[in-house]
Amino acid sequence: MIEKVIDAYKANFSENDEFLAIKSPGRINLIGEHTDYNNGYVFPAAIDKYIYTVGAKNKTNIINVVSLKYNQILTFDVTTTQKPSSNGWENYIIGVVEEFKKLGCKLSGFNAVFDGDIPRGAGLSSSAALENSFGVLLENLFDLSLSKKDIALASQQAEHNYAGVNCGLMDQYASIFGEKEKALVLNCDTNEHQLVNVYTHNYEIVLINTNVKHELSSSAYNERREQCETALKAIQKKYPQRRHLSEITLEELTSIEEKVTPVVYQRALYIVNENRRVLQAIEALESDDILQLGSLMFQSHQGLSESYEVSCDELDFLVEKAKQNPFIVGSRMMGGGFGGCTINIIEKGQTNDFVNSVAEEYIQKFGLKISVITVKFVNGTHVTCSK
Ligand code: GLA
Repeated sequence: MIEKVIDAYKANFSENDEFLAIKSPGRINLIGEHTDYNNGYVFPAAIDKYIYTVGAKNKTNIINVVSLKYNQILTFDVTTTQKPSSNGWENYIIGVVEEFKKLGCKLSGFNAVFDGDIPRGAGLSSSAALENSFGVLLENLFDLSLSKKDIALASQQAEHNYAGVNCGLMDQYASIFGEKEKALVLNCDTNEHQLVNVYTHNYEIVLINTNVKHELSSSAYNERREQCETALKAIQKKYPQRRHLSEITLEELTSIEEKVTPVVYQRALYIVNENRRVLQAIEALESDDILQLGSLMFQSHQGLSESYEVSCDELDFLVEKAKQNPFIVGSRMMGGGFGGCTINIIEKGQTNDFVNSVAEEYIQKFGLKISVITVKFVNGTHVTCSK
């Protein structure tokens, strides 16, 4: 696909420009959902599905960006401050440019073209991959001396201030810090990570895409975050030294149950349990206990569905079927929720049988097909070639 994007760059702009080509991956998350904005642990990995961006400086103050997918061009003046756009994809680019300017970066005009093969709405963070691809492009075009962490944080700010989702740092961080064949245990309190080998022996990690993305996902996401903040405030009245939900104990939470609504209590209960599950999942992998990892994934799904209430019928259906299948040791919804993929640990060679066994009923119930996405763990956002 990178050749296609380079050709499109030449066709839209110039054959002779000294361009840079950037490859920026999406991500999966083994376990640790919605814990990132509660300063807890997450366990993501960058995957072999990418946004490809090709760009070069143009000696003006005008930024021109072509989306091949939407067949649209975004044009704006880098010297004027941009407001969020009503045209979704544009915010990821405008946002990153504006957030870099806030950091004091000196930018000028450039031309760029991008495309990608990360299925949208699948919960694989195509938006973080897009933000990072422009972050790394700007860093390299303008020699800004920003670190990977600076870029990930600017991408996250773009998401908050331009896309309107108050996300945590997991997606942007995993996309830029990913490493081949490794997953990352990211501590979202310190924003530091450790790399972990994920050996699954005769099992493989397979995503099954519900192919739905329910509308309320971004408003419900921001609402969950607010509910967590409400719970934290109630905890802090009694335990002022607690800085975030991921460091409170079950006992502390139980002791303030009467002080918050049942919904807020359930949200906090899920976070406390999910954060513990990430640490248990790391131990399970260290001791080669795939069954334990799988069991934690099923528990994670139950919490996401019943306490955090970010699942949906399609996801619940697939996880329920996975539970009944003797070759699947773990399954859960992945990402923000309300659609997208389940992540499954399935015995090698058994995926097709599972999919065939549920596909018909899924179509009958939901009027849609499911699809399988296989993934490899890869290196994070980087310059892949230049001319
Ligand atoms: C989205 C957000 C992340 C994270 C997940 C849920 O992907 O962008 O920051 O909160 O949802 O774990």
